[in-house]
Amino acid sequence: MGYKITIDGPAGTGKGTLAKSLSEKLKIVNVDSGSLYRAFGLYAIRMNLDPNNIEKLEEALANVEIELKEVDGKLLPHLNNENVEEYIRNEEVAKTTSKFASIKQVREYIAVRQRRLAEGRNVIMEGRDIGSSVFPDAELKIFLNADVQERANRRHKQLLEKGEIISYEKALNMIETRDRADMTREVSPLIKTEDMIEIDTTNLSIDEVVEKAMELVKMKGLI
Ligand code: C5P
Repeated sequence: MGYKITIDGPAGTGKGTLAKSLSEKLKIVNVDSGSLYRAFGLYAIRMNLDPNNIEKLEEALANVEIELKEVDGKLLPHLNNENVEEYIRNEEVAKTTSKFASIKQVREYIAVRQRRLAEGRNVIMEGRDIGSSVFPDAELKIFLNADVQERANRRHKQLLEKGEIISYEKALNMIETRDRADMTREVSPLIKTEDMIEIDTTNLSIDEVVEKAMELVKMKGLI
């Protein structure tokens, strides 16, 4: 049995950056659970799936294989054996993903794979429902948060760096829409449970966030 560290929180709080840094420091596996959901989102776009057609969706879930496979030391999303990492990090996929992530059958499908990835080893997993639903028994549960304006700012910058030219207002709107979908869905919504420890990253540098998280790792006796 290994230990589990979970990081949940809304978009743009720096979950991915923190998870990567902690996994390097602790030398444990880092699972970006959003990439599994995004791979399904991409599949939904490619197959033209309708979130309201549950029968078709169940058929699609029975016939698709989504997994994380190691490539150059990193766990990358594969859709029917195709490495799809480079196709999932855009706003079209993010938006579609959120729509399908609210569906019980999709969450069950992904949760099975998330738990399989953690079997018998130490793991850090980030997402929206990891500490609340996938691993309620995790040893350390972190909830990352930040003001929505700051999160939109970060996302706006990231998109510009990638060459996606959009306004700050559009970035803010995209973040707010996705937050709303993730927080209000009926099945395992994004919530902060009582046993999660919150870190507000609004005014913190990446190093400061990592330092705070490492203090929590020590406090829980994991190192
Ligand atoms: O974290 P990331 O932005 O890659 O996640 C993309 C989307 O996948 C989220 O907005 C959310 O709808 C969904 N997701 C989820 N549960 C998780 C991880 C991601 O519902 N554990």
